[in-house]
Amino acid sequence: MRLEATHASYRYELPGDEWAVRDVSLVIEQGEKIVITGPAGSGKTTLIEMLDALILPTEGDILFDDTSARRLAKAKRLTEIRRRIGVLFQFPEHQFFQDTAYDELAFAMRNFFGPDEELIAARAALILDKFQMDVQRLKHVSPFRLSSGEKRKLALASALMPAPEVLILDEPTAGMDALARRELLRLVESLRDATVIIVTHNLEDFLPIVDRIIGLAAGEKVLDMPRPLVPQDIERMISCGVKPPLVLEVQAWMRREGVRLDRVYNEMEGLIAELKKAASRVVG
Ligand SMILES: Nc1ncnc2c1ncn2[C@@H]1O[C@H](COP(=O)(O)OP(=O)(O)O)[C@@H](O)[C@H]1O
Ligand SMILES: [Mg+2]
Repeated sequence: MRLEATHASYRYELPGDEWAVRDVSLVIEQGEKIVITGPAGSGKTTLIEMLDALILPTEGDILFDDTSARRLAKAKRLTEIRRRIGVLFQFPEHQFFQDTAYDELAFAMRNFFGPDEELIAARAALILDKFQMDVQRLKHVSPFRLSSGEKRKLALASALMPAPEVLILDEPTAGMDALARRELLRLVESLRDATVIIVTHNLEDFLPIVDRIIGLAAGEKVLDMPRPLVPQDIERMISCGVKPPLVLEVQAWMRREGVRLDRVYNEMEGLIAELKKAASRVVG
């Protein structure tokens, strides 16, 4: 599904509130992997709630495959859109409300597609295998009794159950250890056909696997940069208030100091391996 924001703005109801999102236009094609970044309060969560058709823009519009969110809302057809989009909210434990973890997992499918329990079980087996979670255990445990890492896995697994065309992750790595982060990256990479929109402060983690970086500041879109341009233009990121990944800052320092590298490294591991090789050549 193609997503488009056309001059979308959003203001919360309270009198005197500023625009949370202001005049944002962007297009996200099916299958793109996108990072949305920016300081706290810059409107990231509000923007993705509009892209998930949870809220309607105060002004402007959101288009889902060229159909206006306003028109869909009037026709009471927003559910058709929502079931094609999976969302992992910033605090996944706040989205749980079922008695068992399994019911939580099955909820979106039962809700959107009806209670075909055989189909749900088949899908659950597939997804839980990926996440290395035990279905019998989930049938007997309350989602609130899981560890925080498991809660997050369950929320992500639940979002993936209906095989969404679009997956939206709001700060998915906050509080995750390195291993869990790597697992999440692998999972995102494996979703080849799906659009994935990741809200994060942590460009370090996601830069190697995304196509494009969108930056917000005070509700406005200030940056929309394809990944291949990022390494040459981290100054622009900085001027937009977006903190570049350390690995790129290091390479920018090196360039300024006259150190030449044959290629750009998006991951620290690769850069360090290259430096080790260079050092051994000097010593040898
Ligand atoms: N439910 C709400 N009611 C009123 N204001 C809100 C609400 N949620 C967010 N805001 C305000 O909207 C702006 C953007 O918030 P948000 O979209 O949550 O930003 P981010 O996700 O980038 O931290 C902030 O100024 C925030 O205080
Ligand atoms: Mg947020």
